[in-house]
Amino acid sequence: LEAFFSPKMLAGQRVLITAGPTFEAIDPVRGITNLSSGKMGFAIARAARQAGAEVTLVAGPVHLATPRGVRRIPVVSARNMAQAVMEQAQQATVFIATAAVADWRPASSAEHKIKKDGSGEVPALAFVENPDILAGVAASERARSGQLYCVGFAAESENLLAHASAKRARKGVPLLVGNIGPATFGQDDNALLLVDAQGHRELPRASKTELARQLVAEIAQRLGTARQ
Ligand code: CTP
Ligand code: CA
Repeated sequence: LEAFFSPKMLAGQRVLITAGPTFEAIDPVRGITNLSSGKMGFAIARAARQAGAEVTLVAGPVHLATPRGVRRIPVVSARNMAQAVMEQAQQATVFIATAAVADWRPASSAEHKIKKDGSGEVPALAFVENPDILAGVAASERARSGQLYCVGFAAESENLLAHASAKRARKGVPLLVGNIGPATFGQDDNALLLVDAQGHRELPRASKTELARQLVAEIAQRLGTARQ
């Protein structure tokens, strides 16, 4: 009932969200990934849907239920994710990048399982850098012309405000959201630092569900002022 009567802050918006880790194959049975749980991104997808948006969630490999009314596009690698996002970004009005995208992938992935050869020698892994999905979307015509509002996330282990401000500039996004430590991967609560052109403010520690609602409200407010 509460959701029914509340004003739909994101009515008419098409929100595209990335969430979870990516998985970069080494061979058919092994790969490189990280500890992102996807919980924050899924919570934001749910909150944006409840706020009246049409929501597409491009999700790496996580076993979380798809929020009701949200369209989920499952992906594995950073390159899969980049491709899905570039397609979907053509229609989106808001892009929120919460995914912990692997920064590097193995330079090549073996067709067959790599076997021990008995000599005790270990395989050497060479890496190449993955595409920066958020920076790519932020540099697109839709984003630069103001039709697509981009929000980035940052996981830092130190000096959050300085790193988040620098990351906001480097990515070219109007809003950058920092996870206030200690490490929030997998936990059900979090605290967020919002950094935009006006400065910064903190959303104090709360459940990811509650923080997602607050963040959706903050984004809706910024869309309103950007378009008036
Ligand atoms: N991101 C992305 N594609 C990548 C790497 C990051 O879209 N290849 C997005 C993340 O989803 C997040 C933001 O960029 O919204 C910042 O990610 P983060 O890992 O904190 O920053 P990086 O630019 O990768 O720098 P570093 O990991 O060295 O701090
Ligand atoms: Ca990174």
